[in-house]
Amino acid sequence: MSQPKHLQETVGGASPARTADTPMRRRTKRLPAALATTALLSIACSTVADEPTEADLARWQQQYMDMVQAGRGLWTSDQLGTNRLACAQCHPNAANTHPETYPKFQKQLGRVVPMWEMVNWCLRNPLEGEAMNPADPRIIALVAYIRHERRGVPLAPGKH
Ligand code: HEC
Repeated sequence: MSQPKHLQETVGGASPARTADTPMRRRTKRLPAALATTALLSIACSTVADEPTEADLARWQQQYMDMVQAGRGLWTSDQLGTNRLACAQCHPNAANTHPETYPKFQKQLGRVVPMWEMVNWCLRNPLEGEAMNPADPRIIALVAYIRHERRGVPLAPGKH
């Protein structure tokens, strides 16, 4: 394989002074590979990082806020369980929901759980209702509302 002149000198050059300089020779030999990797990465990133437009951002924010709003509506609904209790009666404005502490060990369930499992625990126990599938838009809305109310609180997973 033919090497650029500066590399031939460093890699192949057999003068006694250079032979002693092993770390330097290794580094120089790897340089072309490192440069090639960097070039490939920057090509890959420029195709992946498709910058959203202002309109995209506004639309996505609106979709998010619609979900939070749906959660806010469900929060005061007395129709989620069977005993006419609403989340808001025990957790006004999402108080005492501690979304920043998930996932964490919950003694009611005996294992480390994501927050939606505690939403289901409350649906089944205090509200005497049915658990929801985690992909149910209602549980996504409830979780969105809880997290939105508690936004800005530093993450503290596992904390009690
Ligand atoms: C009758 C009171 C009551 C109602 C109504 C209620 N909860 Fe709870 N909730 C509790 C209790 C008690 C706990 C357990 C506290 C603990 O052990 O951490 C809890 C815990 C939680 C937690 C975990 C809190 C933490 O500190 O990790 C979440 C999240 C939660 N509830 C969401 C909801 C949602 C959503 C609803 C409505 C679907 C709801 N709760 C309705 C009493 C209630």
